[in-house]
Amino acid sequence: MMKNIKVLLTRKWPKAVEQKIVDTFDAELNVDDKPLDDNELVNAMQSYDALLPTVTDKIHKEIIECANRRVKIIGNFGVGFNNIDIECAKNNNLVVTNTPEVLTDCTADIAMLLMLGVARRASEGEVHVRKNHWTGWRPTHMMGTKVTGKKLGLIGMGRIAQSMASKSHFGFKMDILFYDPYFDNEDVTVKLNAQKCDSIEEVLKNSDFVSLHCPSTDETRGLINNETLKLMKEDAFLINTARGDIVNESDLIDALEKNEIRGAGLDVYEKEPAVPESLKRLQNVFLLPHLGSASNETREAMGLRVFENIKSFFSNKTPQDKVV
Ligand code: DGY
Repeated sequence: MMKNIKVLLTRKWPKAVEQKIVDTFDAELNVDDKPLDDNELVNAMQSYDALLPTVTDKIHKEIIECANRRVKIIGNFGVGFNNIDIECAKNNNLVVTNTPEVLTDCTADIAMLLMLGVARRASEGEVHVRKNHWTGWRPTHMMGTKVTGKKLGLIGMGRIAQSMASKSHFGFKMDILFYDPYFDNEDVTVKLNAQKCDSIEEVLKNSDFVSLHCPSTDETRGLINNETLKLMKEDAFLINTARGDIVNESDLIDALEKNEIRGAGLDVYEKEPAVPESLKRLQNVFLLPHLGSASNETREAMGLRVFENIKSFFSNKTPQDKVV
């Protein structure tokens, strides 16, 4: 019934979801997994009914407002949608959907991994073993920072932050504090015994680990910078699984080089996939390549969510994850 609807996947997706999409729509896959450039994206906007991009495809004004646009829905593969000019899509009657909920646990798991990894020097230790530098156990070898019982400060208290808070509080006996002017769920606060702070400063000053969980917006871009980093404790760690541009990366590198904070665990970067050499040279960082949602289960669930969204749209229903 939907075989006359042309959809384009901009990257390679998990096999099972690709199959479902191919079985349902007139679908074009990206077998080589090569990112599309602006011209190819404009072409796609003119030739398909649905474009299914992901968080690395920049869908800006010129692409949305191209001549003879055929695409009616953008089914983004990802919960974040800062890659799309949402205001422009709205003004041009272009529906946009995302993939919330299904990646909450896996992204929070990666935030936990970063927190534990940087505090307990996991990647340094692994390299040490692999390079045959280990000469044996000794009382002062590669000592890190204890995580259990410490204070975790969250900037943003959405689903992923709540999941990390729960794992940290119930699993690691951590005290939770957070700043989120848009969050008002007393039940969650009580359950986690969390302290709601009135300012970011309060979180930064009082946390042993600061984890970022806000979207990238005009309000949050560069939120962690020279000034705000100075508010953190000297022995505190910064964790980022949200978006790279929430942190001014060169200010962070500066703070890490000067030991103004103890370390950072990062899954996202300002100019992905570029990671500054000066950041990679540091010992007090734990770096991952944007793996938050990268489990088989989650990536499949994300794809299915996109599939359901576009199926609803072309059945004249409102997609459950409609952003605009
Ligand atoms: C997202 O979905 O926004 C992540 O960054 C990729 O999982």
